[in-house]
Amino acid sequence: EKGTYPHFMLKEIDEQPVVIRNIISKYKDSDDKIQLDGNIREAMKEADRIYIIAAGTSYHAGLVGKQLIERLAKKPVEVHIASEFLYNMPLLSENPLFIFISQSGETADSRGVLVNVRKLGYRALTITNVPGSTLSREANYTLHTYAGPEIAVASTKAYTAQMAVLAILAVDTAKAQGYDIDFDPIYELSLVATSIEALCDQKETLEKLARDFLSTTRNCFFIGRGLDFYVGLEGALKLKEISYIQAEGFAGGELKHGTIALIEEGTPVIALATQEHVNLSIRGNVKEVAARGANPCIISMEGLEDVDDAFVIPSVHEYLTPIVSVIPLQLISYYAALHRGCDVDKPRNLAKSVTVE
Ligand code: M6R
Repeated sequence: EKGTYPHFMLKEIDEQPVVIRNIISKYKDSDDKIQLDGNIREAMKEADRIYIIAAGTSYHAGLVGKQLIERLAKKPVEVHIASEFLYNMPLLSENPLFIFISQSGETADSRGVLVNVRKLGYRALTITNVPGSTLSREANYTLHTYAGPEIAVASTKAYTAQMAVLAILAVDTAKAQGYDIDFDPIYELSLVATSIEALCDQKETLEKLARDFLSTTRNCFFIGRGLDFYVGLEGALKLKEISYIQAEGFAGGELKHGTIALIEEGTPVIALATQEHVNLSIRGNVKEVAARGANPCIISMEGLEDVDDAFVIPSVHEYLTPIVSVIPLQLISYYAALHRGCDVDKPRNLAKSVTVE
C-alpha cells in the first residue's frame, strides 16, 4: 500500500536506500564477503562471452552491467534489446552465457529469446525482482533483486536494484577468475545507499528544477558521456513515459551530428557530469548547446562540480554513479509529470508488465 505517499512512484523512489542495504545483506556471507551460488559463479567463469538481453529500463541497467562486468571481471559482454535479438542475431561465441534482466520476469520479448537460446542448448541466468516468474523458472539460474513489489509503471527501485546486483555479480566473477580487484562492493554500495538517502531529502530543490526547466517545454534532451550516457537514456525514458514530454538521451558528442538542429531558444538539456575523465568534454558539449539557445541543467558530482551546476550529487565510486545520479532524474520526472497533471503511477498506453510481443 501507498501509506502516506500520494503515489507509488514516490514511495518506491524513497525505498531505494533500504533496497540497496537489503541487497547487501542478502548477498554477503558471514565474513562480510560477496559469495554467489557456486553454479552461477562457475557459469560466469566458464562463459567466453556474456549476452545481456532486456527491454526498456532493464536494458538500461544492462548497459551499465556490461561496463561493470567488463571493467571488473574482464569478460566481454554484449547488451541487446530483447525485441530485436532474434531478428538481428549476432554471431555467438563458442561458450556464451545469456543474462536476462527483467523486473517482472514476464516480459514476452525477453521470454522469446530465452526459449530460443535454451532450445539451442545455451545456459541462461535471470536477474529478476520476481523469483517464481516465467523468466526465472525457465532459466538455469536466478539472481533476485530483492526490491519488493514495484507497483508504479515507471520502474525506479527495480532499476537501481538491478545495477547493484550486477555490481555484485561482476565482483564475484572477477574473484572467481582470481583477479585481485580494488573494489569492495559492500563498502561502495553502503555509500551509495547513504547518498541516495541524502538525495531523497532534497525533493524541494528537485521539484523546483522540474518547475523551472520542464513545466511548459515540448521536448527535453539528456546528454552524458561514458556511464552518464546510459543514465541519460534512462532519464529520458522516465520523463517521456510519465510526463509525455518528448525526451531523448544522447552521447554528449553525438548531438552535433544531427540532433543539435532541434535546439531552440529555451530547449532544456539535462547534462550529467559524474565521470572525471569526461568532465571537460561534457561541459564542452553543454557550451555548444547553450550557444544555440539551450537551457542547460547540469547535474554533477561532488569534486567535479562547477558554480553554475543545477544540482550536485554526493561523491560515490565512479563505477556506481548511475545508481545515484538517476535519483534526481527520477524525482525531476515525477514532479514534471505531477505539475503537468499526468497520472504518475499509470501513464497512458502502458502496462506494468508487457506480456505481448
Ligand atoms: O519487467 P521488465 O523489466 O522486463 O520490463 C521491461 C520494460 O517493459 C520496463 O522496464 C519499462 O521500460 C518500464 N516501464 C520503464 O519505466
